[in-house]
Amino acid sequence: MNLGTPLSPLSLRVMLLGSGELGKEVIISLQKLGVEVVAVDRYANAPGHQVAHRSHVIDMTDAGKLKAIIQLEQPHYIIPEIEAINTAVLEEIENAGSAIIIPSVKAVQLTMDREGIRKLASESLSLPTSSYGFARSLDELREIILSKVGFPCFIKPTMSSSGKGQSKIYSEQEIAKAWDYAASGGRVDQGVVIAEGMVDFDYEITLLTVRAKNSQGFIITHYCEPIGHKQENGDYVESWQPQPMSEKALLKSKEMAKKVTDALGGLGIFGVELFIKGDDVWFSEASPRPHDTGMVTMMTQRQSEFELHAKAILGFPVDTKLINPGASAVIYGNLDAEAIMFEGVDKALAIAGVDVRLFGKPQSFKRRRMGVVLAEGTNISEARASAQQAQRLIKTKVK
Ligand SMILES: Nc1ncnc2c1ncn2[C@@H]1O[C@H](COP(=O)(O)OP(=O)(O)OP(=O)(O)O)[C@@H](O)[C@H]1O
Ligand SMILES: [Mg+2]
Repeated sequence: MNLGTPLSPLSLRVMLLGSGELGKEVIISLQKLGVEVVAVDRYANAPGHQVAHRSHVIDMTDAGKLKAIIQLEQPHYIIPEIEAINTAVLEEIENAGSAIIIPSVKAVQLTMDREGIRKLASESLSLPTSSYGFARSLDELREIILSKVGFPCFIKPTMSSSGKGQSKIYSEQEIAKAWDYAASGGRVDQGVVIAEGMVDFDYEITLLTVRAKNSQGFIITHYCEPIGHKQENGDYVESWQPQPMSEKALLKSKEMAKKVTDALGGLGIFGVELFIKGDDVWFSEASPRPHDTGMVTMMTQRQSEFELHAKAILGFPVDTKLINPGASAVIYGNLDAEAIMFEGVDKALAIAGVDVRLFGKPQSFKRRRMGVVLAEGTNISEARASAQQAQRLIKTKVK
């Protein structure tokens, strides 16, 4: 792969579809290699817009608008960073060979909703998962819960992330409420929900798995050290790396990640979410892009998950080496307002080994992720303590 000069006829152009905080870091990593980057999102001044060469605001589920923007920008690579994209347009582009879709249209389609990836993992690859069923109506949901999923169980829209529309229920009386919540919480209202039996795990991990070419041009699968994380209401609040694991559980985790990422194909990083109990491992979900819990790698690895993704996509060798243990803690908006302020960053940064990222989102909501604290430590408990201490010192306010 030859790199070019941005903003010239010899530029290598990459378009991100979705330009949130994870996209922003991917863009920065690409720009370190002189790549010309176009950021697309559904709202103006998204985090990635603020660091890209050019930006556009469109509804990416609209085929006409998506085609027009791709036609205008003529990217060599297209990186879908979110699920809500018109994948028929991506398929047309991949078939015509006019741009490379990362990691592949097949992977994007299979992971765009929970049904594709769950059926691939459980039915095609025979990986252990929670019990589950899909429902297209309240009656069907009640039927699958009572006949095979049981209580407690998780009800989720098939197309959602960060816990949106997700609930955990314990009894038959709660089914109708969970159905209504799931049907209104999905990104694209297709009215399909998944019911999942609860996996009673000891801990859960994200295994960042990278498919990258080596110097001979062969695709090699690399694994980052496992990332442990804590979720609240289906959204990650804290993560750390490396999560201690038994050798057996780690080996099984890697085998599962290999199977899933081989099946998805292409080049780039994948976030593979797994539940662990003792030496047992269950597959939960996977996405073909950097993972929110993986922001910790900005503090722990020689190459962060964003740098790994950028390099792998372009066909370069990667290095997943861990440098030191670390942790991340999410900074929420904590208030509903436009253009908020952050105080106490000075105090947070005074703690040894702490760094802060503020995403620059133009609007704050109480539970919107607005930034993240990163901390290194000699072990994960030290790093977690520093990250949390620093996170508590940062307060949001309106002027
Ligand atoms: N079947 C299950 N058994 C036990 N815990 C579960 C189950 N499903 C979900 N959870 C818990 O809820 C969290 C969020 O679920 P899931 O990853 O499916 O949703 P999500 O909306 O994709 O979240 P994110 O986008 O943050 O990954 C999980 O990380 C886990 O802590
Ligand atoms: Mg998840």
